[in-house]
Amino acid sequence: MVPAAHSGALAALLSSDSPPASVLPAALRERVMRFHQERVRGTWGGGIITRGRAPGPESVLLTSNDYLALAADPRIAKSMGDCLADVGTGVLASGVLLHGDHPQLLLEQGLAAHLGMPAGILCQSGWDANLGLLQSVADRTTPVYIDLIAHMSLWQGARDAGAPVYGFRHNDPAHLRRKTAEHGPGVICVDSVYSSNGSLCPLGEICDVAEESGSVLVVDESHSLGTHGAHGEGLTAGLGLAHRVHFQVASLSKAFAGRAGFVACCDPEFVDYFRFESYPAIFSSTLLPHDVAGLATALEAVRTDDWRRTRLREISTRVRDEIGGLGYELQGSDSQIVSLQTGPDRGGIQVRDLLEERGVFGSMFFAPAVPNNRTLVRFSLHSALTDDDVTRLVDACRDIRDTYATIWPKGLTA
Ligand SMILES: Cc1ncc(COP(=O)(O)O)c(C=O)c1O
Repeated sequence: MVPAAHSGALAALLSSDSPPASVLPAALRERVMRFHQERVRGTWGGGIITRGRAPGPESVLLTSNDYLALAADPRIAKSMGDCLADVGTGVLASGVLLHGDHPQLLLEQGLAAHLGMPAGILCQSGWDANLGLLQSVADRTTPVYIDLIAHMSLWQGARDAGAPVYGFRHNDPAHLRRKTAEHGPGVICVDSVYSSNGSLCPLGEICDVAEESGSVLVVDESHSLGTHGAHGEGLTAGLGLAHRVHFQVASLSKAFAGRAGFVACCDPEFVDYFRFESYPAIFSSTLLPHDVAGLATALEAVRTDDWRRTRLREISTRVRDEIGGLGYELQGSDSQIVSLQTGPDRGGIQVRDLLEERGVFGSMFFAPAVPNNRTLVRFSLHSALTDDDVTRLVDACRDIRDTYATIWPKGLTA
């Protein structure tokens, strides 16, 4: 349905006939059709894996990473609206043009302090933050060591830098130590909370390896910024480890409910180096003023609304205990991310459908976000879930358990 405000031009465009189009060269067309043939009609059985039922008003929605339920917060909406009314669209250009006491630069200082770091730079997304950072800290001669299930943006950044990349076993500092001993000092990349299975990084031990090997340490805090630490400062700062980490990066599209990324760094001189040398910073337009205003208010809310974190912890503990108690193997989840393993994509679709029939909506995690045939249905828990919502989630998992056991028995402990 076309919103009324756009009904004129958009409605006309939607109802017009498609214009004549050129034809893709055969090789490219074949590649596109291979996707439809192999994945859509093959692996996914004829549908798009992410498109199940439409949720209704009573559904329990566990698909968003809005962990602190701030996306619809009236304080944030108001600051964004006020800003739009005040300054219009602002700088539609690269952030290299910003200077003085521009609100974006002040927010950078505030966010850095929040993470326990001396300085930082806002980026357009977490993806851009990681690509820009890896491009700025690695090169063809710098080995990059990445936890095997760390976010794709870290891998892609290392590849873009042309660096030799070495994966190390998930949450295995001893394996990382062997790799650094073999290939020498470089850049170590981990996530603080892993987005696919909700496991926590053993950060203290990773810091030890970084220091022993003389490596730069990058911690992606996307899934713990806002949710971990006494006031949402993230896992690194919450554990008192910020001074042992060179860079913390985060997507602000999770608990901060915005659309941006952040790189916090240990050296203030790095900021202008990054702004003028990393491609996403130079060649892509910076944030809009109302995004900055919304994020500044989100920072206030994250720091002051401790009850949201307390509630989230309560919910997460209950969900892990009760779903784990049903015999599901939760792959070390110790956070607000809880996933059911489903084996191949088809199993994931079956499990998703069973849950959605019961009004519970999680997200599908499939290759390349996870290895082939290790598909997950992920529940992103948030602080606005009611006790009844949690009961419905647990009941749904209990209800489907016997059928689940026929789909992917390896996902059960007993
Ligand atoms: C750990 C991690 N890092 C980086 C990103 C990229 O963030 P964004 O969505 O802001 O580009 C994500 C988002 O999926 C993520 O989970």
